Amino acid sequence: MTMMRIDPFVRVAGVVGAALLGAAALSAQQSAPPTPGPGLDLINERCGYCHTPNQVFAARKTSAEWPAIVQSMIDRGAELTPEEQKVMNDYLVATLATDRKAAGAAGH
Ligand code: HEC
Repeated sequence: MTMMRIDPFVRVAGVVGAALLGAAALSAQQSAPPTPGPGLDLINERCGYCHTPNQVFAARKTSAEWPAIVQSMIDRGAELTPEEQKVMNDYLVATLATDRKAAGAAGH
């Protein structure tokens, strides 16, 4: 077996990746990166006009508060069809609600 050699490209890619992660951490400053999903695409597309999408990910809201916030953002001018609103509500409640996250991952 001769699989023990470390490819130099892999090492360079690791350094570049670490630098990119550092830059992302500066803007996000929250713990984990957002969970991928259709709701995440919608947030990045529709919720970044008036504030950055990061303000959405940084908000600490419960599963009861998120749908009300989405509705209030639509009232302010966020463009979401009723189906998209439902997708976003489901995503926010499943991935960002403080009460749901506490149930899944061990909270602080
Ligand atoms: C038309 C402009 C606009 C769009 C589009 C918009 N927002 Fe906002 N959002 C605001 C303003 C203005 C504030 C700050 C005022 C406030 O907190 O009430 C805010 C604040 C927030 C907050 C913080 C609220 C709090 O109580 O801490 C969250 C969370 C949020 N927006 C989520 C979203 C989401 C999710 C979307 C996409 C559906 C979105 N926003 C799209 C205008 C907008």
